[in-house]
Amino acid sequence: MKILVTGGLGFIGSHTVVELQHEGFEVIIIDNLSNSSEEVLKGIVAITGIMPVFEKLDLRDKASVQDFFKRHSDVTGVIHFAASKAVGESVGNPLLYYENNINTLIYLLQELQQKQEANFIFSSSCTVYGQAETMPVNENASVKPAMSPYGNTKQIGEEIITDVTKVSGINAILLRYFNPIGAHSSREIGELPIGTPQNLVPFITQTGIGLRKELSVYGDDYPTSDGTCVRDYIHVVDLAKAHVIALQRLVNKKNVDKIEIFNLGTGTGSSVLEVIAAFEKVSGQKLPYKIVDRREGDVISAYANTEKANNILGWKTESTLEESIASAWEWEQKVRSK
Ligand code: WQD
Repeated sequence: MKILVTGGLGFIGSHTVVELQHEGFEVIIIDNLSNSSEEVLKGIVAITGIMPVFEKLDLRDKASVQDFFKRHSDVTGVIHFAASKAVGESVGNPLLYYENNINTLIYLLQELQQKQEANFIFSSSCTVYGQAETMPVNENASVKPAMSPYGNTKQIGEEIITDVTKVSGINAILLRYFNPIGAHSSREIGELPIGTPQNLVPFITQTGIGLRKELSVYGDDYPTSDGTCVRDYIHVVDLAKAHVIALQRLVNKKNVDKIEIFNLGTGTGSSVLEVIAAFEKVSGQKLPYKIVDRREGDVISAYANTEKANNILGWKTESTLEESIASAWEWEQKVRSK
């Protein structure tokens, strides 16, 4: 079965392509290479031995999207990763985010709704919960007013998909990720942030390798065990496997509703200082860091109630925080050794 993976050369997308190929799916990747490179294709082939079809295409170009589906009329399954995802950048450039994250979704859905039946997996985020009242967060937690245009595009995207499934043959699953980290065990693919990493773990590994002088910890005066923010760090391969299981659920018509929502996390919260300690343990080196002011828009704590994904998808994470950090660290060392 032919599956379209948009953003398939990105961090989560490339790991998902590998797992799709392991499960026998034929994969077509669309990527505009704005935050990835064709080099990633070599990493995918090195792992699976299968070269996915790749088309460099910008989903903001409606005519290109229409042309793609004319040429690939047998594509009825889509996993949609392609989007801009930097919270801070979205505050300064909201229209880039609304165009790139919303228009592209609309163009994809316009093509899929013409089909008798289509399966759509959407890359959403725990960001939609804002600061949830209770931890761990379950899927019924209220979706809060977004704290950034990026978060708003995920909320709007979920609403658009929900409305479209009601009037079309599209079945959808929304996957709300917590914090994806780590790299494939082969070290052939991993996270490749462009410029200064916005996220904690790639900043830590770049500091560990000497690319960055020290890590700035954004606040240690939060009401948490050690004063630093708590997040749910999930290994990217565990996350990728969940996408394949979700797709198979739709393909095999196991879904009970036309739209289903799942949190994807480990179910365990880790503070920033605990992540630093995990890095120091797996790397055997001290990490230089300083405490600075809080970062605008950070929630205090977010970690997943994973019961729904565990019980309904039959999926749960396999990697511990230390294993995930170790894989990120080994990937960083490999990338810098090139
Ligand atoms: C984690 C913790 C920071 C960097 C975002 C998006 C989310 C998803 C993942 C896309 C926070 C602290 C960070 C640093 C620090 N993105 N931190 N120093 O903000 O939880 O989630 O990325 O899908 O949608 O919202 O992740 O890694 O940026 O921050 O102290 O240099 O690390 O304050 O507490 P976040 P993060």
